[in-house]
Amino acid sequence: MSEVDYLDTLLKEDRRFPPSEAFKAQANFNDPNIYDEAAKDPVAFWAKQAEEISWFEPYKEVLQWDPPHAKWFVDGKLNAAYNCVDRHREGPRKNKAAIIWEGELGGCKVYTYDMLGREVDKAAHMLKNLGVQKGDRVAVYLPMVPELPITLLACAKIGAIHTVVFAGFSAKSLRDRIEDAQAKLLVTADAGWRRGHQVPLKRFADEAVEGTTIETVLVVKAVGDSATYTMTEGRDLYWDDEMGKASTKPFPPEKMDAEDILYLLYTSGTTGKPKGIVHTTGGYMVGVHTSMRSVFDLKDSDIFFCTADIGWVTGHTYIVYGPLSAGATVVMYEGAPDYPDRDRFWAIIEKYGVTTFYTAPTSIRTFMKWGPEYVEKHDLSSLRLLGTVGEPINPEAWMWYHTHVGKGRVPIVDTWWQTETGCAMIAPLPGLTTTKPGAATKPLPGIIADVVDENGQSVAPGNGGMLVIKHPWPSMLRTVWGDDERFRKTYFGKFPDWYLPGDGAHKDEDGYIWILGRLDDVINVSGHRIGTAEVESALVGHQAVAEAAVIGRSDAIKGQAITAFVTLKEGVQGTDELVAELKETVAQAIGKMARPEEIIFTAELPKTRSAKIMRRLLRDIAEGRVLGDTTTLADPSVIEELKKLSKYQT
Ligand code: WT7
Repeated sequence: MSEVDYLDTLLKEDRRFPPSEAFKAQANFNDPNIYDEAAKDPVAFWAKQAEEISWFEPYKEVLQWDPPHAKWFVDGKLNAAYNCVDRHREGPRKNKAAIIWEGELGGCKVYTYDMLGREVDKAAHMLKNLGVQKGDRVAVYLPMVPELPITLLACAKIGAIHTVVFAGFSAKSLRDRIEDAQAKLLVTADAGWRRGHQVPLKRFADEAVEGTTIETVLVVKAVGDSATYTMTEGRDLYWDDEMGKASTKPFPPEKMDAEDILYLLYTSGTTGKPKGIVHTTGGYMVGVHTSMRSVFDLKDSDIFFCTADIGWVTGHTYIVYGPLSAGATVVMYEGAPDYPDRDRFWAIIEKYGVTTFYTAPTSIRTFMKWGPEYVEKHDLSSLRLLGTVGEPINPEAWMWYHTHVGKGRVPIVDTWWQTETGCAMIAPLPGLTTTKPGAATKPLPGIIADVVDENGQSVAPGNGGMLVIKHPWPSMLRTVWGDDERFRKTYFGKFPDWYLPGDGAHKDEDGYIWILGRLDDVINVSGHRIGTAEVESALVGHQAVAEAAVIGRSDAIKGQAITAFVTLKEGVQGTDELVAELKETVAQAIGKMARPEEIIFTAELPKTRSAKIMRRLLRDIAEGRVLGDTTTLADPSVIEELKKLSKYQT
């Protein structure tokens, strides 16, 4: 569907789903006045939420705002791991399941809060023994195994800064991130399971760390097959051996300042270099904890299953820090949704009695394609809340989720947020908000968001524009690691006092916000953010390529798919073999998720007089539309070239 058709569908959407009285009666947030109260005084709202977090020393001031720099809970002292684990060990949650881990090949490991605490403390001792200090960066390149959250929490306990690199990223991407963060230790695994096959992570890690700041590589035996890699003497150590040597005594939590960094997480932007998004401790913990109670209506009896990988922010916030801070039981699944069969998620829901299920629209569209029979095989009556995240959800997918997974009785929260925002920002409160299929609905209490035009004027209902956040919030990014200027320019360059997320949005007659997608040169493939510039730079790195322009075209399952337009060097032939080679080049440089769906060879790329590539025209071609306005082309003769590529040749 083109963007225009998509908007048309959204505007015609008139189904409404008010919360049931029963849900409302039991909801954590069920007083409608909360919105107005929080809007009047967001700082007071957040101060109230901060009471839910355990502080070693109270903060002296809630907010210092010197745009674009915010400090929340100034001089407060706390520890994120203490909040996620130890405080629950001191009360009735001590023996409650914290993490239920399900392996791809089957099998299950349960960590109670007390057991998790022992592992985290031992891991903290181990990292300390290996020389990790407060403020050091620890890179993490792991499959979805329990050692992953344990590593993050152990870092948090010490005050070391973790930076997780999704295990689907290539060796080169891992290397770039290690170098940017100047990490001194890497935690990785021998390999990871994916659809019954082994992904040789240690081999990629070896390629990535050579000649970097990494002094130690800790290897988790996630698969247990040593045939695919070697260990480098003096650098590589096994997780199990080092854990065996570590003290079993409690590890005293480091008293972190509210503004000390908790983690870095790299995300794509409009240049070739990913940004290290900086999250600090106090504000992040307050933000994520609050959203567990508000958006996910979390209760002690809930079993929370988020299908994201911890390599993305969704997993950081809604597998690790959010649910654990709130004392929940979280389900963590190692593998793929279709292994061994296409009903795996539903089987997991049934097996553990999952109450809250959180996944991405691209997955829902895949389930639709597979057909409802896989869902219907399982008893999903334990579910009481469904969520989506990562990209706009089309109303059809929303309705399918509602009908087949929720059986028409379970509220859906469509949560808009970003790596930068730390937690959900625009989403329904399930006990209060009447939902509309396809709308993220309204900013959460304490979040002041709007849709504005080029001049910053709030658009009238029924219009579209840019999404902005007009007031700082606790879990916002604090800067871009090592590049504060890029932080300022990217997010506060257009409106100095407002945060600019880079998304386009529509405001409807009820003031609901419908997110339409990125306005910048960022593509959202299956809910994963990929910069066009990164893919282009990978392509021009190939000896045959003179120039490349990459766009996201709409795709029925992935939301967007990558199409690359490539001009070759003089004398090079655009063969099928070259197409395959170029696709592989991108996969090697970034990761498989960035592999272009199509490569189209062209003699010329359409550019404006200021040499900016006119991606709009390329999108017209890729999506099979008549070419739009071509009057700003620097070289009108390119039109003929483009028409040859277009299926509309007239
Ligand atoms: C971009 C952020 C937040 C975790 C996953 C992605 C898009 C995210 C929604 C939603 C419409 C959404 C936006 C945003 N996005 N959630 N519910 N409705 N669009 O994190 O990689 O930082 O990407 O994902 O375009 O800017 P991310």
